[in-house]
Amino acid sequence: MWMEKEKRYLIQFFKRQKVVLERGEGCYVYDVDGKCYLDFVAGIASVAIGHCDAEFVRKVSEQLSKLVHTSNLFYTIPQIQLAEKLSEVTGMDKFFFCNSGTEAVEAALKFSRKATGKKKFLAFTNAFHGRTMGALSVTYKERFRKPFEPLIQPVEFAKYNDSEDFKSKVDKNTAAVILELVQGEAGVHPVNKDFLKTIFDLKDEMGYLVIFDEVQTGFGRTGKWFAKDHFKLQPDIMAMAKAMGSGIPIGCTAVKEEVAKHLEAGDHASTFGGNPLACTAALATIEIIEKRKLVDNAAKMGEYLQKRLKELFTEVRGLGLMVGFRVPKAYELVEKCLSKGLLINATSEDNIRLVPPLIVSSKEVDKAVEIMKDCLRGG
Ligand SMILES: Cc1ncc(COP(=O)(O)O)c(C=O)c1O
Repeated sequence: MWMEKEKRYLIQFFKRQKVVLERGEGCYVYDVDGKCYLDFVAGIASVAIGHCDAEFVRKVSEQLSKLVHTSNLFYTIPQIQLAEKLSEVTGMDKFFFCNSGTEAVEAALKFSRKATGKKKFLAFTNAFHGRTMGALSVTYKERFRKPFEPLIQPVEFAKYNDSEDFKSKVDKNTAAVILELVQGEAGVHPVNKDFLKTIFDLKDEMGYLVIFDEVQTGFGRTGKWFAKDHFKLQPDIMAMAKAMGSGIPIGCTAVKEEVAKHLEAGDHASTFGGNPLACTAALATIEIIEKRKLVDNAAKMGEYLQKRLKELFTEVRGLGLMVGFRVPKAYELVEKCLSKGLLINATSEDNIRLVPPLIVSSKEVDKAVEIMKDCLRGG
């Protein structure tokens, strides 16, 4: 009944898996008939601390009954506390809050134009940065872009992980170079260290800013607080969202002081961005990640997951608990896993992405791998 109503009333943008989910607990979700599923999607790398964690629920509920929203015409404490906490975990200087990943990228693009006075953006093949007009302009897939052209210009795409191609396309008109350190929607493809070094090497000579899109990789997902920490590099601007509120919508654009000094009242804004409820959710998420050492768990479990997957699949790749692998008929595998109580996500016909909650245990990794093994055997 719910699936028919969805078809009747919702614009058909999504190819949803055939299940109606009703509640969640830790790494598990339950459908309307009470069937349990091990969740290796986590709302697309978003439910970092697991579903309905008791401490998270308590903190967000307390804020819910205290103050939800005021707009940014006023000061509110959770927003200021969150910015202070983020400066500690990101090493960035100043923060702007919004409500999603695409908005965080949108702001990053605007900020880089304002700070440099330049126009051009350089992005990479297979990049995904979001669906609003600016973020879409630096997203690679023709299928997503074409129906909405003309988009923001000038934008050029260089080959991801190809230093020579990058050098041939970047120039003195480039305001910013934007990239994911692990391309997520493309199927989990980590960046190459030398390539990243080239991007930083040419920065001062060419006068562009570097934007890291950590929307999917942030908040412990890759086994470090941020993917940038694997490389010990600081971008000029960083976009975050997804896991930040562990499911409560919140996004953030972080900047270095040298960028912040070019930004002034009226340049950008958001009605809901940084409201007390969302900021409390983000603060609770960060505190829980810290207290329970979930970054370390992501590193450890990610390694274990990759090891177990290599028993079954070729081309297993990733960083921490952001793992992808090749398999023919990926959508078929997704369907079979669903019927056996495991949620996974296909990014293409022949690629699976696994992004379980950061609280996942080795028992749950084993369970997921056994279910996939069973599906491959046709069991
Ligand atoms: C790297 C990256 N940037 C931006 C976005 C867009 O985020 P949102 O869907 O919250 O707008 C995504 C979403 O998948 C993403 O993976």
